[in-house]
This record gives sequence, structure tokens and C-alpha cells, in this order.
Amino acid sequence: MSFFTNLRFRLMYRRGWTPWDRGVSPPELIEVIEGARRLPVGRALDLGCGTGTTTVYMAGHGWDVTGVDFVPRAIRTARAKAATARLPIAFLVGDVTRLHEYPIEPGFELLFDQGCFHSLPEAAQPVYALEVTRMARSGGTFLLYAFGRQSAQRRPRFFPRGVTPDEVRARFSAFDLVEARPGTDPFSSHWYTMRRR
Ligand SMILES: C[S@@+](CC[C@H](N)C(=O)[O-])C[C@H]1O[C@@H](n2cnc3c(N)ncnc32)[C@H](O)[C@@H]1O
Repeated sequence: MSFFTNLRFRLMYRRGWTPWDRGVSPPELIEVIEGARRLPVGRALDLGCGTGTTTVYMAGHGWDVTGVDFVPRAIRTARAKAATARLPIAFLVGDVTRLHEYPIEPGFELLFDQGCFHSLPEAAQPVYALEVTRMARSGGTFLLYAFGRQSAQRRPRFFPRGVTPDEVRARFSAFDLVEARPGTDPFSSHWYTMRRR
């Protein structure tokens, strides 16, 4: 884990400056949970789950969900949301690049990452890919939202460098890239749907 990335997120949650935390699940997730591309209910892993909005949403639709985030304050909020909704969700304060160290059983049918992978330092991204690959069951779906590549001059300070679809394909080589759908943000971003071979 990068000490500085961890510190930055801790400070952001502490100050309540979490612009990504909109309190609603994105349409791309809703599509695979209850919409046109609905998957059969199973086990889901929410990587970098933050305050648990999407974790609670999936659990509310019958999924057996595990949420992981390395900021204790975010996980405390997530646990409170799950308790209010009376949903039995396994939340864990942990690093998504060290999942093998935690008591998490692999074999997830759905892996979801909204904004965590692109926040990782570049050197940590291959380890993350190994962990996600190990956690996914064969045929499992990995739904990933990531910023597109932004040039150093144009991106705001502390904004992730972002990734290209080619980089995603190469990084997650044990998955087939089924779709790279452009996001609706004012900057470049994609929703990637991948299937574990
Ligand atoms: C942009 S936020 C998105 C949070 C949540 N997915 C959402 O959409 O509300 C990225 C999240 O990833 C978490 N994160 C970043 N690097 C992580 C790591 N190495 N291990 C665990 N969580 C991490 C941060 O703490 C933060 O909650």
C-alpha cells in the first residue's frame, strides 16, 4: 500500500471532502443487479467500497457481499448503513492489494470497483490485478469504473493519471474485456465489463 495514498484518503474522509460519495448506485451497476444485464444472485466483492453505498445496494438485492476499504472511518460509516438497513454485510478494513492476507474466500461471481483501481500507485496495480484475478470465479464478472488517461498538464493536482482500455486489457489478462463503455463525466472515463476466463 502506498502510505501517501492511504493518508490522502484518510484526510479526505476526515474532512468530509468525498465528492465521489453521491449516495446512489451508478446505472452501470444497477444494470447488472436488476436491469437488462442482470446476473444471477451470488457473491460480490466491493473493492474500495468507501462508505458502502454500492455494497448496501447489492446486499439489498440478495447478494452476499464483502466490502473492503483501507480507511477505517469509511468502513465505520458503511457498517452503520448496513446496520440501519439490517443487512448482514462483511466489511473489512484492508488493502485491496493484500487480499490474500485476509479471511476472504475466493470465488466471487461479481467484483465491483468504482474508483479504487485508478487511485492506486502505478506500481501497485499489477498486484491488485493478481488479487482480483484470484478472487474471481471462472465466468465471474468484473465491473470496473476508471478514469481515462489524462495528461499531467491538464489534470488537476492529485487527480489519478488514469488508464486506457489497452492498459486495462493488458493488466487484467486473465479476463476477457467484454465492454469499455465511455463514462458520462466531463473528463475521460470508462466503465469496463470483464469476464474471468
Ligand atoms: C474514489 S473512492 C470510491 C469509493 C466508493 N467505491 C464509491 O464509489 O463511493 C476510492 C476508494 O478506494 C479506497 N482505496 C484506495 N486505495 C485502496 C487500497 N489500496 N485498499 C483499499 N481501499 C483503497 C479509498 O479509501 C476510497 O474509499
